Amino acid sequence: MRGLPEHVASHLGMLTTEERRFLYEFARDTFRGEGLIIDAGIFMGASTAALATGLRDRSPPYVGRPIQSFDLATCDQSTAETMAYHFPQEEWQQGKSFAHVLTRALSPYEDLVEFAVGDIRETLVNLNEPVELAFLDCSKLPSVNAHLTRVIFPRLIPGHSVVVQQDFFHEWLPWIHVTMGYLAPYFRFIGSAGPSAFFRCEKAIPEHVAAIDTWNDPPRPGLQMFDAGVPSGLSETEAYLADLARVSAVRWFEGVDASVQYANRLTKPSGETPWTLPEASFVADVMKGRGLDWAHAS
Ligand SMILES: C[S@@+](CC[C@H](N)C(=O)[O-])C[C@H]1O[C@@H](n2cnc3c(N)ncnc32)[C@H](O)[C@@H]1O
Repeated sequence: MRGLPEHVASHLGMLTTEERRFLYEFARDTFRGEGLIIDAGIFMGASTAALATGLRDRSPPYVGRPIQSFDLATCDQSTAETMAYHFPQEEWQQGKSFAHVLTRALSPYEDLVEFAVGDIRETLVNLNEPVELAFLDCSKLPSVNAHLTRVIFPRLIPGHSVVVQQDFFHEWLPWIHVTMGYLAPYFRFIGSAGPSAFFRCEKAIPEHVAAIDTWNDPPRPGLQMFDAGVPSGLSETEAYLADLARVSAVRWFEGVDASVQYANRLTKPSGETPWTLPEASFVADVMKGRGLDWAHAS
């Protein structure tokens, strides 16, 4: 097995080495050239660099532009701080576009990548081609999650295509688990790396099924769907992070008191964990102070 190229491992970004390796190897070894690779929410393009390098390292190198990458490319407060650290020659503040820096970072790959700047709900409105891989790292709002599900999932190839939910092992984005629970009959969990969960599509997803907004209009009790979306066989850390996401789901479906009670039952794994885990009591405190705006935000 060849190693991960150094420029992929070191490309500025938030992905773990194992996540980069998955993308690189998928593009190199598994991609069939029958459809697109959707890379949604790329910040500085670490995922795109891994995918494009994988395509280039095929034998022979892949010719074509199957990768479609998307980003808003507008600084929020934390991105502005990251940009100020890495690009101190410019001034950075919330609301400033980083599209020019991102375009430069993607320039070595422009023969393989189409890149769209803007809100993905406007830049990816429909797809007429199959999708072999969807790397989803911008489902920060329920409406974005619902949009990506509706547009992308009916184009997945059964038995082949993979969806990477990059925010799966994360405490604040429970709509992702609810969606994967609702769509559990169509997917098989095939593994994880860092915060990412990998799901292979096993059965064609009809458009009317993918069009359901599972967060705002769940067709059966939402918490049941959440639970159906959490795979078995997770590590202790992964199970804890999924449980923290469940606290937010309980807040949404059953109210503050139930969510605080649920958080209070959780125990943070002891010993070494791959990254610093939030305290369940912190999540409980957020729930106490939280209205429902967070989960409505559009
Ligand atoms: C956590 S960062 C992605 C990190 C990236 N995958 C990496 O490897 O470093 C999330 C990204 O999603 C983008 N994003 C958030 N909402 C979006 C939207 N509605 N449309 C397009 N991009 C969006 C943000 O601009 C940000 O760059």
